[in-house]
Amino acid sequence: MKIGIDKIGMYVPLNYVELKDLAIERNVDPDKWMIGLGQEKMAIVPIDQDVVSMGANACNSILSEEDKKCIDQIIFATESGLDYSKSCATYIHELLEIQPFARSYEIKQACYSATASIQIACDYVKLHPDRKVLVISSDISKYGLNTPGEATQGAGAIAILISSNPKIMEIGDYSVAYTCSGYDFWRPNQLDYPEVNGKQSTELYMGVFVEVIKEFINRYPHKLKNIKSILFHLPFARMGKKALDKLERLIRDDELTESQELKKAILRWNDMYNNSTIYAKQVGNIYTGSLYMALISLLLNNERINEGDEFGFFSYGSGSVAELFIGKTVKGFREYTNLERFTRHIERRKKLTVEEYEKEYFHESVNEVKNIDNTSMNHEIGFYLEKVENNKRYYNKK
Ligand code: CAA
Repeated sequence: MKIGIDKIGMYVPLNYVELKDLAIERNVDPDKWMIGLGQEKMAIVPIDQDVVSMGANACNSILSEEDKKCIDQIIFATESGLDYSKSCATYIHELLEIQPFARSYEIKQACYSATASIQIACDYVKLHPDRKVLVISSDISKYGLNTPGEATQGAGAIAILISSNPKIMEIGDYSVAYTCSGYDFWRPNQLDYPEVNGKQSTELYMGVFVEVIKEFINRYPHKLKNIKSILFHLPFARMGKKALDKLERLIRDDELTESQELKKAILRWNDMYNNSTIYAKQVGNIYTGSLYMALISLLLNNERINEGDEFGFFSYGSGSVAELFIGKTVKGFREYTNLERFTRHIERRKKLTVEEYEKEYFHESVNEVKNIDNTSMNHEIGFYLEKVENNKRYYNKK
């Protein structure tokens, strides 16, 4: 029985700032961010959007009434949660009118949590093939104004419906997970912004990638030749390419024994890399959803992908947990990835000046806002945060 991604939806805030403008304002050579990090734009959350409304909007574009009756679990993956106790999934359950006898909960392990949720979802559907699980990844990436991480911020949500006989991608049992506790990026409860060891975080990411590739080859030696491309968690668009380059360097320096097949694989993986980073360049880091935004980017921007092609997914969450697993496109997958809707959504966005971005920046940390004035907001029809009153959040739909 095939289990995997039946539907996938994306929502990104409709405001963005141009990194070239921000670089000039911060006295940084724009090429450092545009070439060195590979980033062009960064999504900025307006006052009337938060992780819940973005998540609801990502779901809204994909769920049918029939799906809502079949969903047994709503798993909300985030590292920008709103409450220590009440999960964001409970809001989604109400806003999307999912059948009442469902489990709704939140999962956290930095940018890895969407992958953990997908694996839990697949295991559940394996046991209950006529039921579905809704996985939502939604995050707002913020490092603070004038910080080294400022150029690697962003925001957005991805919704994934896991079912049997999926219409887009089968997720197989071939996977390697990896844990090593460390402090590359972390955010203790009392802090508004994460602590980051920037250089160490990129080194750890690349090192962990090499470890899981080695173990993957060790466990499934016959599988490597089938992997057409690797999708990466993309904190910035160049990060996955840096990891591929490191792998190539190790082979060149004879530090890896698994050479011949791997050399050929790296050529293929480099070839498709740019197609998977098109949205990351435009949106920035959406933390746990970023790997799945790379999937959307690849499916929509590479016409050479065929039914039955296999892809590696490299998931990385600081702290650190990683996983490499395999997805395989299924017959008819193109029909269910609606290119025009995604492209229109990205193209409809409004550019902010650096001054407007700095003003917008502190909005969603406001915890008590009655009747949010969103008349000047550039938002489309969908869910939005209406007010926060007595520490309760109220959402509405346009
Ligand atoms: N033209 C072209 N390239 C230039 C340049 C120029 N004028 N000036 C510098 N560059 C290049 C540098 O050579 C460098 O490339 P290499 O790494 O290939 O050498 C690149 O631009 C970036 O330069 P620096 O490393 O000097 O940049 P920085 O010190 O400002 O930090 C960063 C970059 C570490 C990514 C920082 O933005 C940061 O801390 N971001 C947040 C943490 C992060 O994203 N970590 C990624 C791994 S952790 C993870 O994946 C989890 C997650 O989502 C957070």
